[in-house]
Amino acid sequence: MTKPPAERIGVLFVCLGNICRSPLAKGLFQELVQQRGVAARFDIDSCGTGGWHAGEGADPRTVQIAAFHGLTFEHAARQLDPRRDFDRFQYLLAMDLDNRAGLLHAGAPANKVYLMRSFDPTLAGETEHRLQVPDPYYGGSEGFEKMYAMLKAACEGFLTHTLNERPR
Ligand code: 4NP
Repeated sequence: MTKPPAERIGVLFVCLGNICRSPLAKGLFQELVQQRGVAARFDIDSCGTGGWHAGEGADPRTVQIAAFHGLTFEHAARQLDPRRDFDRFQYLLAMDLDNRAGLLHAGAPANKVYLMRSFDPTLAGETEHRLQVPDPYYGGSEGFEKMYAMLKAACEGFLTHTLNERPR
């Protein structure tokens, strides 16, 4: 059974437009927690620091790369809502350094803000610059494939981390 919101682990994936990176991160993480039988323990959402695409679905190229890997998900883009999101979520997972700066500028508690790829154990010891999921919006399809691989590895590392921190 789903736990009350306050008892769940709140995870907010954050990018710029909320149509490419953070929707895919949310879709991947939701699939992962379902596969592991721990979905009820999490409260998961995504948003953008910008609001230009609010109400839109995921970018077609994101939908395509997800479907190529057998993943489908619903999405309606939304902008970060500092008044609610900083209370509701314990983990604010920024895709890049700009997203992290946007979160902190909006007043996010620094102890809740992380770079998404800092949870990829294969990247331990890398500089922060190398822990970014680059914005694929203006690039080609290879950027979307790389994004998928980066987010999959980071989601798996993040789940391992949270289940170690909060074993039950
Ligand atoms: P996202 O990608 O932050 O991964 O959703 C972007 C989507 C849209 C724009 C920039 C980045 N944009 O400038 O409209």
